[in-house]
Amino acid sequence: MKIKAAVLHESNTPFSVETVDLAPPRAGEVLIKMVAAGVCHSDWHLVTGDTQHALPVVAGHEGAGVVEAVGEGVLQLKPGDHVALNWAPNCGSCFYCLHDRPSLCETYIEPIWAGTMMDGTPRLSQNGQPIYHFSATACFAEYTVVPQECCVKLDKHVPLTIAALVGCAVTTGVGAVLNTARVKPGSSVVVFGAGGVGLNIVMAAELAGASRIIAVDRTAAKCDLACDFGATDALLAGPEVITTIRELTRGRGADYVFEAIGLPAVQEQAFEAVRPGGMLVLVGLSAMGSGTNLPGAVIARQEKTITGSYYGTANTARDFPLIVDLYQQGLLDLDRLVTKTYSLNEINQAYADMLAGELARGVITF
Ligand SMILES: NC(=O)c1ccc[n+]([C@@H]2O[C@H](COP(=O)([O-])OP(=O)(O)OC[C@H]3O[C@@H](n4cnc5c(N)ncnc54)[C@H](O)[C@@H]3O)[C@@H](O)[C@H]2O)c1
Ligand SMILES: [Zn+2]
Ligand SMILES: [Zn+2]
Repeated sequence: MKIKAAVLHESNTPFSVETVDLAPPRAGEVLIKMVAAGVCHSDWHLVTGDTQHALPVVAGHEGAGVVEAVGEGVLQLKPGDHVALNWAPNCGSCFYCLHDRPSLCETYIEPIWAGTMMDGTPRLSQNGQPIYHFSATACFAEYTVVPQECCVKLDKHVPLTIAALVGCAVTTGVGAVLNTARVKPGSSVVVFGAGGVGLNIVMAAELAGASRIIAVDRTAAKCDLACDFGATDALLAGPEVITTIRELTRGRGADYVFEAIGLPAVQEQAFEAVRPGGMLVLVGLSAMGSGTNLPGAVIARQEKTITGSYYGTANTARDFPLIVDLYQQGLLDLDRLVTKTYSLNEINQAYADMLAGELARGVITF
């Protein structure tokens, strides 16, 4: 079928909305009519080349839609089902899945990073030339074909714009707090970067009972937004924030510090904000091949823990419905994350707005 999709032909060029060919789903695959796709910074890393990928590619990995058709052997889904897309499908039986780290599942890494379906071939093409799928989801498009493992079926009462955000920013942020760090009630939390991911860290820290939640961002608009989302303090980024964070945490530094931007210099500064015995959680994705200088001499003497958090250490089949329950009970106010919606044609404007740092989350609706 012919569909409209946002194609990235080369890094450092804009997304180009074009007509491309989408082949029908093969065995184990699902055709989805997209309803909403979130404007996540991880797709932007493809544009800058910080994340290297086969090109041309259809990006978009934070999405939700309605099942249109299923390929042979797909038994758990049927046309009409509502699904949120999981961009890191897990097999349930590899070493990592069995050790409760499904976001590190190794079974599908190769085809996913090759930009294909599980059989090693893409369903997208243009004039007979292949177009690759980002994270097997490629949802900056009217329709997408995904492996069935990328689909998490959700209750039809959940708005699909919200379901889309559960597909990345919410699970990443909430999971970083509840699964990766396991923030304890009464603790102090700092979040560097109050974007789509960082604001979810703020909300989850409040849910976990943190008593001090300090957001740091480079824009005043994001600082205000962070306070609306539950931060007790918000600081404009700069060298002096470490002193202020220590003042706000009885001179010690924070129990948990999250970096949700992906800049080595900020990761290094975030380390300074952690108290002895505290934890630094790296959530932002820095450029592939870049390095961050963290002082071993201090890490050992002050017993600081440094950990990464990938997809919020989530088990998506367990955690998407759990997050939706928290939303439906009013414990996670996800509605206000959606600050602005765009058409697919407006995708470059949506990214310009994200980079300007004024929105909680932009969402493309179809
Ligand atoms: N670990 C994961 O599984 C995972 C999942 C999704 C996204 N990510 C990554 O998380 C990061 C954040 O994603 P997002 O979608 O929330 O991005 P975003 O653009 O919505 O938010 C980034 C925020 O950081 C702020 N910022 C930028 N530079 C800053 C600086 N020097 N100091 C202080 N604040 C600064 C911006 O103003 C913005 O508010 C990205 O690197 C993204 O790729 C990681
Ligand atoms: Zn696995
Ligand atoms: Zn994302």
